[in-house]
Amino acid sequence: MKTLLERVTSIGVPRHVALIMDGNGRWARARGLPRTAGHEAGARAAERLVRFVGRRLGVAYITLFAFSAENWGRPKAEVDFLLALLDRFIAEHLGEFVDSGIRLRVIGDVSTLPVAMQRTVANAVETTACGTNLNVTIALSYGGRQDITHACRRILADVAQGRLTPDDVSAEAIARRLDTAGTPDPDLVIRTSGERRFSNFLLWQSAYAELYFTDVLWPDFSPADLVMAIDDFQKRERRFGAVAEVAE
Ligand code: IPE
Ligand code: IPE
Ligand code: MG
Repeated sequence: MKTLLERVTSIGVPRHVALIMDGNGRWARARGLPRTAGHEAGARAAERLVRFVGRRLGVAYITLFAFSAENWGRPKAEVDFLLALLDRFIAEHLGEFVDSGIRLRVIGDVSTLPVAMQRTVANAVETTACGTNLNVTIALSYGGRQDITHACRRILADVAQGRLTPDDVSAEAIARRLDTAGTPDPDLVIRTSGERRFSNFLLWQSAYAELYFTDVLWPDFSPADLVMAIDDFQKRERRFGAVAEVAE
């Protein structure tokens, strides 16, 4: 009998899976640990997942929501801890990313990050630019509304400079000016920890994504959980507003 992993990979996995990695704080609290311990465990879960996707799954793009534009509103100590953890995560995995053909991208308002972290990010993006096995996008200081707002500004600048006319402004023209330009829209968006909202994640890009919610807290989210989410995804019919083929 085929394993679930064999089955989902033989059917054809989604091209782009985006993950809202939520529940680190609750995971820690349930163990009597500080929230920071939850974030550390969350980073290990992300590491495990990226390795699995790169080696076993055949998904071409994954996007990880690691720090939202709104997360700046958390206590400074937690923000500092999270950013330092993410900086270290990227720096320490750089060699592994290159060796396993991972191309790293970052979306979000990178200019708001500490300067040293901006350097880590720029170096990692440049060093991994030739990776062709798996595209990993990390959303840092990312907000969907901010992304769309920035795209509007870029469009207005292009119109002001005569490179674009109002009639040229199409959905494609907007998409090309989002941080995600060049990356296909997510097919599947997964949110852990039982919350059922976007929290300002890829708002424009998720217009036709399939949504999957699980009560599993992010630090416990395993490769097997991802395989189950993909199995669920494969049972759905994506219609994109059209009607299913009917024999009349
Ligand atoms: C997700 O876990 C990590 C980030 C948002 C950075 P949380 O820190 O939101 O954990 P909960 O939701 O409080 O459990
Ligand atoms: C969303 O989680 C952001 C990330 C996973 C990075 P939050 O925990 O910040 O979202 P809310 O506050 O519950 O909506
Ligand atoms: Mg949360």
